[in-house]
Amino acid sequence: MNFNITLDKIEDIKADLEIIVVVGGDLGHGFVKDRDVLEKVGFEGKHEQLCLLAEKGRLYVGCENLCSNDFRAVTAVAVRSLDGMKFSSAKIATYASNPQCTEVLRGMVEGLVLGSYKFQHYKSKKEQPALQEITISFQEYHGYEIDSQKCGGIISSALILADATNYTRDIVNMAPDDCYPEIMGHMAMELAAQNNLDCTILNVDDLKKEKMGALLAVARASRHEPRLIHLVHKPKDPVAVVSLVGKGLTYDSGGLSLKPADYMVTMKADKSGGSAILGIMKAVSQLNIPVEVHGFVGAVENMIGGDAYKPDDVLISKNGKTIEVRNTDAEGRLVLADVLAYAQQEVQADYIFDLATLTGACVVGVGEYTSGVMGNSELLINNVLYAANKSAGEYATKLSFNRYLGKTLKSQVADISNISNTRYGGAITAAMFLNEFINEENKEKWVHLDIAGPAFVEHAWGENPSGASGAGVRMMTRLIEELANKN
Ligand code: BES
Ligand code: ZN
Ligand code: ZN
Repeated sequence: MNFNITLDKIEDIKADLEIIVVVGGDLGHGFVKDRDVLEKVGFEGKHEQLCLLAEKGRLYVGCENLCSNDFRAVTAVAVRSLDGMKFSSAKIATYASNPQCTEVLRGMVEGLVLGSYKFQHYKSKKEQPALQEITISFQEYHGYEIDSQKCGGIISSALILADATNYTRDIVNMAPDDCYPEIMGHMAMELAAQNNLDCTILNVDDLKKEKMGALLAVARASRHEPRLIHLVHKPKDPVAVVSLVGKGLTYDSGGLSLKPADYMVTMKADKSGGSAILGIMKAVSQLNIPVEVHGFVGAVENMIGGDAYKPDDVLISKNGKTIEVRNTDAEGRLVLADVLAYAQQEVQADYIFDLATLTGACVVGVGEYTSGVMGNSELLINNVLYAANKSAGEYATKLSFNRYLGKTLKSQVADISNISNTRYGGAITAAMFLNEFINEENKEKWVHLDIAGPAFVEHAWGENPSGASGAGVRMMTRLIEELANKN
């Protein structure tokens, strides 16, 4: 998709189609040229409501509020609705109702790119998307003077974020036998070479030397050996250091505590956290954010077989704590325990964030659209929530730790059990398990994000098509940008 930006007025631009966003149901506005027809067909400008007037070359889409999150969703819905049609070019005006309001422009551009995403890797006949070109006019409908330099900056940043999100979607959507740990390692190396990142990959021997007994146990039954990926974005004079840790389960069969058939489908998406880390590293490098960012991914496949780790096994994790395995399907926390320990050993970070499709309980608790955010620092959790809900347009909500849930992880035979003894509060107990592997001095620097709900989408919603959403990429990149401004 090509993006052009022009100072020309919208009616002076040649394009097959004009996309017109109707905000707040206001059909009386001057730029709504087809009010009568729209009313006749029952278009009220409700959020995400569409009306294509093909012969006039106009596509109307309703949008609840003049804000970047709503614009992201509706422009994506508009572009997705054109799939299969023959319009090759479109134009759209700028809706920045005042000079400060350029975030609406960001939402619009991100929505257009995210909405045009289509995963076709496994289709024998690949459809060429008809829509090749979108022209954004800096004509502002309300007559405000646009700061074209500032707008240009916003557009290029939006393009980087949307492109990084689509990159993550591509990785997650790959079939598990095409994207296993070794391949994820190759992808990371390629990403590093193209984006001026450092990249180190640890193989099984390295992981043994690092005494990652928990990660290695999960990986053991798979014919695909595990990898630990470490990417670094190292700007000159960084204002802060951030470590990111991702769960990269290229497949989660559940292991010997095997998942039922219906629950196993989509478990290729258990690498979403790790794949998001790759996308975030791409974005922070391209945006040249003045923060040193380390991305760690535990890439592992959880399988069954004669060599599989078992319920009743006791593992010795990297930080020396012993873990009683009571359920091999609670494997993500075992992998993360070791990778978090490694990340803390390698880097003295100011902030540590982990992203993981960790629990079904999180999806049950907060719904499939929302990530669960947990940790020991109210302030840092709030920073994450702001970046997600306000800056990036990703739903996220806080779940609170408490000492009683913490006690449910006690083990009779080892230092800790990998599952809780209660069936309630599973997202929180999983995070409290991870908390046991955060060093005392880092407790307040760490936040865990359970992205099990939004990472993989069953029915398209907002800017997300069905399949991988790229959850976490925009929110974490914006968060890192915002942390840079605080330092
Ligand atoms: N990868 C799953 C969590 C998951 C579930 C992600 C649904 C996305 C959608 C994780 O490894 C898992 O299986 N967790 C178990 C934990 C349980 C055994 C304590 C779960 O959530 O059932
Ligand atoms: Zn599992
Ligand atoms: Zn898993």
